[in-house]
Amino acid sequence: MTVEMSPIERAKYASARRAAEFVESGMKVGLGTGSTAAWMVKRLGERVREEGLKIQGVPTSSGTAALAREAGIEVTTLDEARWLDLTIDGADEFDSNLNLIKGGGGAHLQEKVVATASDQMIVIADAAKAVETLGAFPLPVEILAFGGQTTKALIEETLVGMDVLGRDSVLRMQGDAPFVTDEGNHILDLNLRRIGNARQLSLVLNQIPGVVENGLFLDICDTVVIGYGDGKTEIR
Ligand code: 5RP
Repeated sequence: MTVEMSPIERAKYASARRAAEFVESGMKVGLGTGSTAAWMVKRLGERVREEGLKIQGVPTSSGTAALAREAGIEVTTLDEARWLDLTIDGADEFDSNLNLIKGGGGAHLQEKVVATASDQMIVIADAAKAVETLGAFPLPVEILAFGGQTTKALIEETLVGMDVLGRDSVLRMQGDAPFVTDEGNHILDLNLRRIGNARQLSLVLNQIPGVVENGLFLDICDTVVIGYGDGKTEIR
């Protein structure tokens, strides 16, 4: 790589390349979304062209689907593939139990469906995403556009009884309009600051009728490949 990169970008690049080594010919691979996952997709494309690596990729967003096709990776749907060998995806936070917050890129719904349908999930992330307790990163919650303000009020009311430090939520915007996910939904970002009981929170949020899926990935990730600014990596 000859282009000058920031330390964060170099860390993302290093973790993505290291994780791409776990992919073997014949595998069905879930392809994550985000800037770190984009490096991984590009690296797999290189391996397809240079080594004749034969894989089927299941993208977790329309953006990743376009990127994968451009990289020369054979793209299929989850319904076609049914079950995957491996999913490699980024994260916004991970803790020492490899629980995650995802959805900063607005794709956590498809990402969770794909990762859950995989034998293994490998997360690729720069070291700054390691946290002791989840919650500093605002928790993305995908909600139906229908009745969105009511869902927002219900979520904030529900948070009163939860082990969290903050309770306000913000509708994610893109320009002047609400951000719309690939599934046609909206996203609320919950400023919780600290999540004391992620399991309870995840269950309670997903019971609210307008909630489609929250960005907590609990007991889904098997391995994290951490990248550092000097290009080194560490596997946890
Ligand atoms: C998208 C995600 C991303 O994986 C997460 O936001 C990390 O993104 P990046 O690699 O750009 O830091 O969950 O929904």
